Amino acid sequence: MSGTEFTKQKLWGGRFTGKTDPLMHEYNQSLSYDRRMWAQDIRGSQAYARALVGCKILTPDERDQIIAGLDAVGKEWKEDKFVIAEDDEDIHTANERRLKELIGPVAGKLHTGRSRNDQVATDMRLWMMDVVHGIETSLRGLLDVMIKRAESEVDHLMPGYTHLQRAQPIRWSHFLLSHATYFSQDLLRLRDLIPRISVLPLGSGPLAGNPFAGLDRDTIAKDLGFHSVGTNSMHSVSDRDFVAEFLMWASLAMVHMSKMAEDLIIYSSSEFGFVQLSDAYSTGSSIMPQKKNPDSLELLRGKSGRVFGQMSGFMMTLKGIPSTYNKDLQEDKEPLFDAVETVDRSLKIATGVLSTMTIFPQKMRAALTPDMLATDLAEYLVRKGIPFRETHHISGSAVRISEERKCQLTDLTLADLQGLSDKFEQDVMQVWSFDESVERRDAVGGTSRRAVLEQCERLQKVVA
Ligand code: ARG
Repeated sequence: MSGTEFTKQKLWGGRFTGKTDPLMHEYNQSLSYDRRMWAQDIRGSQAYARALVGCKILTPDERDQIIAGLDAVGKEWKEDKFVIAEDDEDIHTANERRLKELIGPVAGKLHTGRSRNDQVATDMRLWMMDVVHGIETSLRGLLDVMIKRAESEVDHLMPGYTHLQRAQPIRWSHFLLSHATYFSQDLLRLRDLIPRISVLPLGSGPLAGNPFAGLDRDTIAKDLGFHSVGTNSMHSVSDRDFVAEFLMWASLAMVHMSKMAEDLIIYSSSEFGFVQLSDAYSTGSSIMPQKKNPDSLELLRGKSGRVFGQMSGFMMTLKGIPSTYNKDLQEDKEPLFDAVETVDRSLKIATGVLSTMTIFPQKMRAALTPDMLATDLAEYLVRKGIPFRETHHISGSAVRISEERKCQLTDLTLADLQGLSDKFEQDVMQVWSFDESVERRDAVGGTSRRAVLEQCERLQKVVA
C-alpha cells in the first residue's frame, strides 16, 4: 500500500500525502482505552442525528438509517464482535468508519457541524455521569456497613488515641463513625460534582459554535439527560475541570480510606489485638507460616498514593495548554479511568473488610487504663466550682503521686486526694468508671450511647 493510500484511510486523511509512522499511530491512538466509551459515543451520535433533522441536514429517513446503523455498531461492541481496523484512531473515528461500512455514504452526514472536540467532551461527560452513580452506590454500601456495625456494637468501649497515645475512653462505634463521617462528606461532595459534570458540550463544533440554524441544544441536552448546556463553545471543548475535580474528589476519598486502613492495621497487630481481618481479605506469608497479613488494608493505603498521582499528573497536563482543544487533552482518559476503577474497587474492598472483620471487645476494654480518667478527675473538681486550669493541675499531681508510688490513679485513697484539694468528697470514687466517663460525653457528637446512636441516625439520612 502506498503512503497516500494509507493516510487516505484516516478520516482526516484528505490533506495528507505522507504515511503515518506506525509508532506515531500507536502513540496517537486512544481506541485501546477510550473504547470503553462506545455506548456513550453511540448515544451522543444518535441524539445528534435527531437534532440534525431540526436544522434540515438530515431527513427523518436518513436519521432513522443512521440511528439503526449506530444500534448495529453498538450491538457489535456489546457482543464483542466489533472488528478494529488498522486506521481506527479513537472510539469516535472507529464508530463512524463502521457506520459508513454498514449504511453507506449517508453516514457521512452525521458529523456535520460537529467536531471530535465537542464529541469527545460529550462522551466523557456521559461516561462520568454513568460511573459516578456506580461509585455513589459503592460508597453508600460502605457507609451502610459501618453504620450497621456501629449500631450493633455500640456497647463496646476502647481507648481513644491522640498522638497514638491512650487519651480517653470511647465507644468502638464512635471510632467507626469518625471514619464514616469522612465518607458521608465524600458522598455529599460526590453528589455535588454532578451538576458540573452534567453540562452538554455537543453543539460547540471544533471551537466556535455550531453554524446550522435550528440546532436545538436544549433538546439534545434533554435527550441525553444533561442538566444544562455549555454556554461558551471555546470553554466547552477544552473544559476538563470535571475530570480534575473528580480526581481531586477521588484523592480525598482515598486519603480517607487510607487513614482508616492505617488505624485498622494498627488495631489488628498482636500488640493491640482489637480486630482481626477475615481470611477473605488477608494473605499469608510465603515463608512464615504463622502470619496473616492485612494486605487489603495495606493496598487501600498504598493505592491512595496512586490516585493522588493521577490527579497531580493531570493537573500538570492541564496547566500549560493554549485555548480550546489540544491533543494534550487526550491524556485525560487514562488517569480518569484508572482513578475511577481504583476508587470503586477500593470502596468495595473496604466494605468487604469492614463487613467481615471480627472485633475483640475484651481486648479493647483491657486496654483501658485508669490514667485515662485523669481528665474526668479534673472535671469532677470543676463541678465543685474550681476553675479548670487549677483542677488540671490538681489532677496532674494525683497522676504524679500514683506514678511515684507505682500504683494506679484509682488506687489513691480519698485521704490522698483530699491532700491535694479539700473539695474531694466520697463521691469522687464514682469518677473511676469508664462507662460513666463515656456516658458523660453526651453533647451532640460525643461518645455516649445516645450521642453515638444519634450519629447513626444522622448518617443514615445522608446515605438514604
Ligand atoms: N481521541 C481524542 C481525545 O480523546 C478525540 C478528540 C480529537 N480531536 C482532534 N481535534 N484531534 O481527545
